[in-house]
Amino acid sequence: MNHVSSITSPSSLTEIMSLTAGDRQAMDNLIRKRLRSDVLLVNQIGEYIINAGGKRLRPLVHLLAARACGYAGSAHTQLAAVIEFIHTATLLHDDVVDGSERRRGQQTAHRVWGNAASVLVGDFLYSRSFQLMVELESNRIMSILADTTNTIAAGEVLQLIQLGDTELDEQGYLRVIGDKTACLFAAAARLGAVLSNSAQTVEQSLADFGFALGQAFQITDDWLDYSGRDASLGKNLGDDLAEGKVTLPLILALQAAGSDDRRFLTQTIQAGGTDELDRVRAILKNTGALDGARQRAVEFSERAGTALAPVPPSPERDSLELLARFAVDRSL
Ligand code: IPE
Ligand code: IPE
Ligand code: MG
Ligand code: MG
Repeated sequence: MNHVSSITSPSSLTEIMSLTAGDRQAMDNLIRKRLRSDVLLVNQIGEYIINAGGKRLRPLVHLLAARACGYAGSAHTQLAAVIEFIHTATLLHDDVVDGSERRRGQQTAHRVWGNAASVLVGDFLYSRSFQLMVELESNRIMSILADTTNTIAAGEVLQLIQLGDTELDEQGYLRVIGDKTACLFAAAARLGAVLSNSAQTVEQSLADFGFALGQAFQITDDWLDYSGRDASLGKNLGDDLAEGKVTLPLILALQAAGSDDRRFLTQTIQAGGTDELDRVRAILKNTGALDGARQRAVEFSERAGTALAPVPPSPERDSLELLARFAVDRSL
């Protein structure tokens, strides 16, 4: 891990992007090459969602983690593609489940081609990711990713049965976001250490880093659903309220609100829809629930930074630390 000390550490996202430019290009080439199918509709939908961009945050975490562990091979770019395929598959499924209309700044795939096509192409991407990971011939890697995808699926089901449940507490919420979101970030970071046969302490610290980063990221996403601007998010605001999804801002508001506001929130969550979005927003602001949720995101982002301590210093490790900060500021 003898990184040259004269290499300065990135201090911006642009610098992280140039540090990883070669690896990201290799990943992008693979994604494009391995997206292909003989079936035209698979290519159309696959390219539609992949070409719309996306932040590619999870594969970036993996590429940086591998390099931070001194990895010098090329399997990390393939694993990065695997991780982005898994993520993209979950988005195709998630938008059907959530009835969302916008993703990555454009209409969701199911709005263009219908639910059936979206779900099936999601399955195509999932299974393509398995083909790519099998090529790496590592049981350990397959085991981590099999567990991860299974946990994501269970997390989405858990969330489904909790829709409209105004009794959900912070602990229950953290369990769902841990399963549906943070575990993929954790796997992305952990696999960097696995590829390079790093010490168990380093592997665990990267997994802890990824998990906390994922939590910070999802809490921020849930905060933005009430406070962001759709143009910068690329998806519609208010989706969570529309489907009765009880996220941290609502949980904190239900705890802090007076009885009238609590009754109103409970009824509105159970009714679904966005007709009352403005009044809900005002309550979230006045009860301090939005600030409280943001504060929790910052705490998880700090926890992510602290988790990196056992990882040897390098520009890549510093980049991971910066990403944890950016995840809550959402210049991402
Ligand atoms: C969206 O993830 C799903 C969440 C966990 C909030 P991203 O915000 O990383 O989506 P893309 O890939 O950049 O579009
Ligand atoms: C996305 O969760 C998590 C997965 C895709 C597994 P959300 O439903 O909260 O994310 P957005 O808001 O649709 O991106
Ligand atoms: Mg969704
Ligand atoms: Mg969802």
